[in-house]
Amino acid sequence: MSSIVILTGAGISAESGIATFRGPGGLWEGHRVEDVCTPEALASDPVLVHRFYDLRRAALAGVVPNAAHLALARLDREWAGELLIVTQNVDDLHERAGARRMLHMHGELRAALCAACGERRAWEEALPPATVCPACGAAALRPDIVFFGEMPYGMERIEAALARADLFVSIGTSGAVYPAAGFVQMARHHGAATLELNLEPSAGSAWFDETRAGAAGTLVPAWVGQMLD
Ligand code: OAD
Repeated sequence: MSSIVILTGAGISAESGIATFRGPGGLWEGHRVEDVCTPEALASDPVLVHRFYDLRRAALAGVVPNAAHLALARLDREWAGELLIVTQNVDDLHERAGARRMLHMHGELRAALCAACGERRAWEEALPPATVCPACGAAALRPDIVFFGEMPYGMERIEAALARADLFVSIGTSGAVYPAAGFVQMARHHGAATLELNLEPSAGSAWFDETRAGAAGTLVPAWVGQMLD
């Protein structure tokens, strides 16, 4: 066993105090998904959409990585084989825990994207609509979030890693959003073993060789210990 691909979702950050999308009290905070997470919403009500992500970016200051993020960072440090942690999360808890071999496929709260020139840059502050892009001068900076209907980041790298993977592990994701929900099938197709660690069986749990039900803060450190010790 040498090459591992891990997919994480909102469930891995739940114990840090960040609400999941589809659970009770979900992150949408009364907003319909279409009102805050589509290109059409950004075009029709930029003030609402920018404010929504400003609040979520600001909330990151009040949360810290939990035992699951720390365990994956340990795996990243100590696993001698290939590893890629693909996260659907736009928080920065994986990297704050110390993970390096990772990729944010749905973008990052602490980044801005220029809709005119495509440059992405670190962004810590509030981001009002029509903020000027320092690279090209267009008043076109937007949150660096992959909206529904847009292409996730890093798909070529992810698909290449899935093709080489010996093990695919899905952690804290409902399996409701594609293409991430299809990674398990891609990994299986290429011969990888598959494991799900989630509070409850996900929409795609039948695709996994093994599903362990429970909190990520307990299941992930136990699994990492099993892999390394
Ligand atoms: P969801 O909110 O859809 O699913 C979270 C999953 O985590 C559920 O299956 C929960 O049962 C599980 N869960 C909750 N607490 C947990 C815990 N403590 N330990 C382990 N599992 C737990 O979130 P995602 O699957 O990440 O996209 O959602 C996928 C995408 O939908 C997001 O990336 C976002 C959203 O639209 C964009 O923003 C582009």
